[in-house]
Amino acid sequence: THQWRGIIEEYRDRLPVSDTTPVVTLREGGTPLVPAQVLSERTGCEVHLKVEGANPTGSFKDRGMTMAISKAKEEGAKAVICASTGNTSASAAAYAVRAGMVSAVLVPQGKIALGKMGQALVHGAKILQVDGNFDDCLTLARELSENYPVALVNSVNPVRIEGQKTAAFEIVDMLGDAPDIHVLPVGNAGNITAYWKGYTEYAADGIATRTPRMWGFQASGSAPIVRGEVVKDPSTIATAIRIGNPASWQHALAARDESGGAIDEVTDREILRAYRLLAAQEGVFVEPASAASVAGLLKAAEQGKVDPGQRIVCTVTGNGLKDPDWAVAGAPQPVTVPVDAATAAERLGLA
Ligand code: F0G
Repeated sequence: THQWRGIIEEYRDRLPVSDTTPVVTLREGGTPLVPAQVLSERTGCEVHLKVEGANPTGSFKDRGMTMAISKAKEEGAKAVICASTGNTSASAAAYAVRAGMVSAVLVPQGKIALGKMGQALVHGAKILQVDGNFDDCLTLARELSENYPVALVNSVNPVRIEGQKTAAFEIVDMLGDAPDIHVLPVGNAGNITAYWKGYTEYAADGIATRTPRMWGFQASGSAPIVRGEVVKDPSTIATAIRIGNPASWQHALAARDESGGAIDEVTDREILRAYRLLAAQEGVFVEPASAASVAGLLKAAEQGKVDPGQRIVCTVTGNGLKDPDWAVAGAPQPVTVPVDAATAAERLGLA
């Protein structure tokens, strides 16, 4: 009879809500923290995966969206808008349904995974494919929200960050203290900002004795923070983090510097290697962008930058089912057999 109530009810005293805020929830959060055996062996550390693909719409965006849509409803909004590489739009569309609102989403033409497009469609979002990249979509969404009656629910909306910081709370609540290092993929840089806020709040209140070093990883073709300049034409197979001018750039730098952390890059090849390792050796199916955190950890370990014995949490941000093309690509076609046990056994190598 007791189920997780969603991040607003579970962490109400740490979020900017009141008794009169209408709580729009799909009971997001409360996601698994899974010990990663193979990664632990490879690094000599105690590695955990925070599996955010277990959220209701399959990504961490739901933590921010329950807050953004609840606050928008409280303020009387009838419609919400976002720019998205896919996951934000899927989440906004679902939570807008719960709130009885209209959702509008702006996505870069041809650059979002099919599963995410399907989610926005089936939840009834009004979708515009923009002839541009995510950064162009965000510029357009901001302009529309300033001039028309529609609330912006991107992570430039500070209540999104408030909701997303609860993932750090869950980790500390689960482990008893903050880890030594927290690793995550970086795109628009809202999530690294949110985790850092969560960790610092818990440390300030004495719930954690310390804060972790924050390690963020961008895809090499979309690594403006690493390069120190805007990337005009970002590219990567990890479409979720194909972003050239992150909105929370300065906050990401602050998280890095205040935590004694690092922001580095991983190649698409490294991302796909980590993607396959997670699925084939840890049993956790994530989308490519999510594997950037694990790719980064493995790269750092190979460079000798990971001292053994540390406790490390990698956030894997989105579910693999959203973008299954990369699971199928390059894999052998399953063979077809007749309804015959002897043949099946032979093909399975059992006989
Ligand atoms: N991982 C996934 C699966 C994402 O969808 C995103 C961002 C990130 C990582 C990066 O997080 O932007 O806070 O640094 N997706 C956004 C979207 C941009 O529109 O769904 P970030």
